[in-house]
Amino acid sequence: MNLDVLLQRQGFGTRRGCRVLVHQGRVAVRGEVIDDPDTQVEEEGTEFSVDGEAWIARGRVVLMMHKPVDYEVSRKPQHHPSVHSLLPEPLNARGVQAAGRLDTDTTGLLLFSDDGTLIHALTSPKHEVHKTYDVTLVHPCTPELIHALKSGVQLHDEPGPLSAVSAAATGPDTLHIVLREGKYHQVKRMIGAAGNRVLALHRPAVGSLSLPADLMPGEWRYLTNEELNRVWGAAPRARA
Ligand code: URA
Repeated sequence: MNLDVLLQRQGFGTRRGCRVLVHQGRVAVRGEVIDDPDTQVEEEGTEFSVDGEAWIARGRVVLMMHKPVDYEVSRKPQHHPSVHSLLPEPLNARGVQAAGRLDTDTTGLLLFSDDGTLIHALTSPKHEVHKTYDVTLVHPCTPELIHALKSGVQLHDEPGPLSAVSAAATGPDTLHIVLREGKYHQVKRMIGAAGNRVLALHRPAVGSLSLPADLMPGEWRYLTNEELNRVWGAAPRARA
């Protein structure tokens, strides 16, 4: 494809703007400055730089972020910065979106992609991609609470009770819960309906993909091929 088209698809602006970037000598491909925007390049895997910043062209992107507290999962945040402000502008410009939401005060694994099929696969209740949460409670964790979460609690705007895939105490006031859906404030509402309250919430995993220990709050990275297989494997019916 044309170099200007590649740049446009990678989020560097309009086609016209990308042609200007190239003409201005600000774009290099595999280390060599190219000033002809009609130069033919492969998309997938092409190493290029814009103003000295290195990129690898990707047809579709899937990335993970360790969401920090006090960031909103929204493109139009109201009270706090958006998680999108933690991503490089070209990724936002090419339309990456978060797969589901985490509350402003929730931390943990958040996936992003510009692949609508993947976003749908990860968020649609039909695919039942499990979401794992570590919860710190306001009041002690009791066997009755665990029993209620596992057997099902009725939330007032839901047609039937919602139950956890699993729930287990991990300390006097902490628990681990796995949900099959990702409804609005689901953990907080389920725990509230069962008579306790959430003090802090962290999501260590989505499907079989865990938040890497070396990904610090606010950091992000692309998924490896092995991790990509895992996220797609979490919603196998979507890929078929
Ligand atoms: N459930 C909640 O209540 N909040 C989150 O951020 C995620 C799940």
